[in-house]
Amino acid sequence: MIHKKIKDWEDNVGPELMKTIGIKDTSIVMDLGCGFAHYAIASKNVVGPTGKVVAIDSNKRVLGLVKNRFQDENIKGIELKVTPIETLTEEDFKPIDFILLYDLLHGNEFNRYEFLCKIRNWIKSDCIVSILPFHLSNFRDREGKKKKYTLKKIIEEMNMLDYDFIDSFDQVGIHFEKYHSPHIMQKGELTFEELEVGTILNFKRK
Ligand SMILES: C[S@@+](CC[C@H](N)C(=O)[O-])C[C@H]1O[C@@H](n2cnc3c(N)ncnc32)[C@H](O)[C@@H]1O
Repeated sequence: MIHKKIKDWEDNVGPELMKTIGIKDTSIVMDLGCGFAHYAIASKNVVGPTGKVVAIDSNKRVLGLVKNRFQDENIKGIELKVTPIETLTEEDFKPIDFILLYDLLHGNEFNRYEFLCKIRNWIKSDCIVSILPFHLSNFRDREGKKKKYTLKKIIEEMNMLDYDFIDSFDQVGIHFEKYHSPHIMQKGELTFEELEVGTILNFKRK
């Protein structure tokens, strides 16, 4: 059953993946636009007592569901914040070792250019900004127009925004969105293996 497979991913495959991409037991991780927090949970299963995971999303309803799930399943160690990520301050970013921007950059709900430029000056020099892009055909350019992107174009854009490309991890990130689609869930036919996979790109500020 897919729910069991998702939980298994969060507890086993996900943590191994988060270690592979560079999260350590001492890492302070910020999952921006965390959605249902699958990546925050996987990260939480890597960090030890001196590490920390903060998961942030502007969607109150989704974070309410996440909070209930944490209570029901006694999932501890993740600080949840309901706020647009644009409201975060320099203080919030100062201690962060690892930022997850997963399945978020394509949207026009926030201005990634402005946001990435702003946090570029706030983050530590060794902080990893990790991107997992999906919906590459629906990316927006600076003017908000839809534009087809490629991983190469994302790397070039990050370079322009003053971030160095560090590493890529091919086809290992899961696109969880479909799993939460009411339509797909009602049909009840989705398997874990049918979820799309994508490449994770890691950057550091120049
Ligand atoms: C497609 S989901 C991805 C969820 C998660 N990162 C994942 O990969 O499973 C995008 C999430 O980003 C959130 N989001 C979009 N714009 C945001 C913003 N400006 N501030 C905070 N959250 C935002 C949405 O509410 C949504 O939950």
